[in-house]
Amino acid sequence: MKRIGLLTSGGDCQALNAAMRGVVKSLDCSKEDTEIYGFLEGYKGLIYGNFKMLTGKDFSGILTKGGTILGSSRTPFKTIREPDENGLDKVEAMKQNYYKLRLDVLVILGGNGTHKTANLLREEGLNIITLPKTIDNDLWGTDMTFGFQSAVDIATDCIDCIHTTAASHGRIFIVEVMGHKVGYLTLNAGMAGGADIILIPEIPYDMDKIIEAIEKRHQRGSAFTIIAVAEGAISKEKAALSKKELKKAMEENPYPSVSYEIADEIQKRTGQEVRVTVPGHTQRGGSPCPYDRVFASRLGAEAGELILKGEYGFMVGYRNREIVKVPLEDVAGKLKMLEPDASIIKEAKLLGISFGD
Ligand code: F6P
Repeated sequence: MKRIGLLTSGGDCQALNAAMRGVVKSLDCSKEDTEIYGFLEGYKGLIYGNFKMLTGKDFSGILTKGGTILGSSRTPFKTIREPDENGLDKVEAMKQNYYKLRLDVLVILGGNGTHKTANLLREEGLNIITLPKTIDNDLWGTDMTFGFQSAVDIATDCIDCIHTTAASHGRIFIVEVMGHKVGYLTLNAGMAGGADIILIPEIPYDMDKIIEAIEKRHQRGSAFTIIAVAEGAISKEKAALSKKELKKAMEENPYPSVSYEIADEIQKRTGQEVRVTVPGHTQRGGSPCPYDRVFASRLGAEAGELILKGEYGFMVGYRNREIVKVPLEDVAGKLKMLEPDASIIKEAKLLGISFGD
């Protein structure tokens, strides 16, 4: 008999359900008896003992369902060691609930912050297996995270729709794509949608270069320009500031997001109409794309196998086209960023895409 806890933590994404289904289905297909405990709303459920007992039936029909049947929440790692408002030691509470239910393993689905807490629980002696979820694809130790391809599809659809209206009106359009720290999503959706300019956090932009790229298009007879901007895109000037200076500059910034600031500047300098579209959380919503359904199911199945073998302390990831197990201590606290000299960026530049650098 294996007692397995499941939880989904952090911002949701597509294919969380598909991944959990993969874990449970693969165990159901083995001879091992299992009891499944689903903790509600991420680590909160583990801290406060909110869970429901689940059976194979609960995972039937959820392969294509977006969101998470367990609910999710953000439980910041930086305050995990601080007692809650009632003085409860959150880490101790999670351990106690794990031991009270006599769990053999806790399967945690999450992104960067989630992995820090998962690793802490491993250090505290719990058996942990994690699965890499995030539309940002910024988890260290895996070439791919589930949710990413689905989000690329949605952001690309958005750029496609903008393309036709931008062409009709001869306008400059900015599409703001999710990703505060990394630009994988913006880069991929931008290239797939034929964006002319792509701005990502890893390559600070120079406003003069953006204007140059727009004017070049004009000279060649293109009346419209599509700019894909990551939420975390940053100017060269701001990137040169110290952390403290940047915080102050951000507090004083009157714009709702970087896209509006860039739009304003372009409008002032070129006199052309600029519109901003923000698909926002639609990028995390809806049904997972076929790639994510397959990918998350594979990861889930491999997690099931690790559970049967009793191999704990790993994230099930994907490297060089193979599913691999990556030690949690290697994953936690590291961000996978795009290298400015990555081959895909070189190729995008060869295609004439400007990164504003
Ligand atoms: O981490 C995934 C992500 O969707 C980011 O791309 C985005 O910046 C952030 O979460 C939004 O977070 P929230 O849902 O808390 O607004």
